[in-house]
Amino acid sequence: MKITVAGAGNVGLVTAVCFAEAGHQVTCIDTQREKIEMLENGHSPFFEPGLEPLLEKNLSKGQLCFTTDQNHAYSEAEVIFLAVGTPEKRDGSVDLSYIYAATYTIAHTIKNNVIVCTKSTVPVGTNDMIKQIFQQRKPRHLRVDVVSNPEFLREGSAVMDFFLGDRIVIGVDNPEAASIMEQLYLPLKIPLIQTDIRSAEMIKYASNAFLATKISFINEIANLCEKVEANIEEVAYGMGMDKRIGTSYLQAGIGYGGSCFPKDTKALIQLAGNVRHPFELLESVIKVNQQQHSLLVKKAMELLGPLKGKKAALLGLAFKPETDDIRDAVSLTIIKELLEEGSIVTAYDPIAITNAHNLIGNSIEYTTNIRQALKGADFAIIATEWDQIKHLPLFTYPDYMKEPIVLDGRNCYSLKDIEQYPITYVSIGRPTITNVKPAEQH
Ligand code: UGA
Repeated sequence: MKITVAGAGNVGLVTAVCFAEAGHQVTCIDTQREKIEMLENGHSPFFEPGLEPLLEKNLSKGQLCFTTDQNHAYSEAEVIFLAVGTPEKRDGSVDLSYIYAATYTIAHTIKNNVIVCTKSTVPVGTNDMIKQIFQQRKPRHLRVDVVSNPEFLREGSAVMDFFLGDRIVIGVDNPEAASIMEQLYLPLKIPLIQTDIRSAEMIKYASNAFLATKISFINEIANLCEKVEANIEEVAYGMGMDKRIGTSYLQAGIGYGGSCFPKDTKALIQLAGNVRHPFELLESVIKVNQQQHSLLVKKAMELLGPLKGKKAALLGLAFKPETDDIRDAVSLTIIKELLEEGSIVTAYDPIAITNAHNLIGNSIEYTTNIRQALKGADFAIIATEWDQIKHLPLFTYPDYMKEPIVLDGRNCYSLKDIEQYPITYVSIGRPTITNVKPAEQH
């Protein structure tokens, strides 16, 4: 099938490359010429495991091409995916200007009947607006079917999620369009559910909001565990064994970040507010998450007193491992708070430094070497559970730091392992370890 994907961001590019890999003929369009040139040369503008090899392969096979030319992209496509950005506005609502701009362009450019399928996360009712635009602007003799097909691609495992997803959701109001969408996804052999358009739009928000709720819930239980001397790891495991609860998204920590959960939870509250439905549960989820972001700086101050002039090693800038994305990363809140307290910050991250530097500039130092970050530090804060941090030999902390005080926001280490070393270790929902034994031989 001839597919066009509008937008070469995290969702659009993964969608384009993976549909090409699944055997479709794919054109990906973006307005940023630099990005398109990079992609034409086989380079992804962001890090996503497994994406670049598939990009190169499908470019060289001729299954995939990139363009900034609207005519080339839209005039003969059978299915067009809208995967442009839907950023957050100041009031928490969604900025749909890119969606509508792409819709107008498509309406004026198409030369065939086409299905326009929204992948970007858009508030319930947006696809009705898209339909209206087509009704008003498309050539009369052409037929445009609008479909909602939300994505469930986690950054860092998006390629795997594309091919091994749990379900494909197709929101559609026309059986012919539904059958074309089924054919499109057939090679993936993933269960496909068909709903009305508004329900598909809601499934996406409800899914992200529910996962965010699970995280804030387990974080509140973790905070309680600290007060009643229980251990969140054991509690989460014991809860997750119940199939009705499940183990995933029960990893306690300093809260969720990224470009999806923070934005989508706020957008769902806005959406509910628009129909005079106060979504109090979700408001609490967001509040708990924000409090969680500030936990470790508070705990550092409890341990060390005022942080003015103290050297902090911040381990991990990306909002989660296996990505260079720092959008709404918890590390950014921690950096802001540390700087406000007068701390001197050196941040380690294996791949997210350029993005962080572009956003926060030279207010902190950056390194891709963990030891460099720890050298002479008064305390360390772990914000991202990178493998490089999880597999760091624990003697590195007492060896390199001025004071081996580690505040771990992602529970990277087992308490038993930590107990072997002279480290003061604060984690989330687990007992604090204050080990002042002299350094072990190693
Ligand atoms: C999320 C959803 O998981 C995807 O299904 C969805 O398609 C995507 O948003 C989107 O809307 O585009 P993503 O934000 O990329 O994906 O990453 P997640 O792996 O879900 O993690 C989100 C945040 O939750 C991260 O900051 C992570 O550290 C945190 N998290 C996750 C926890 O704190 N605890 C957990 O147990 C799991």
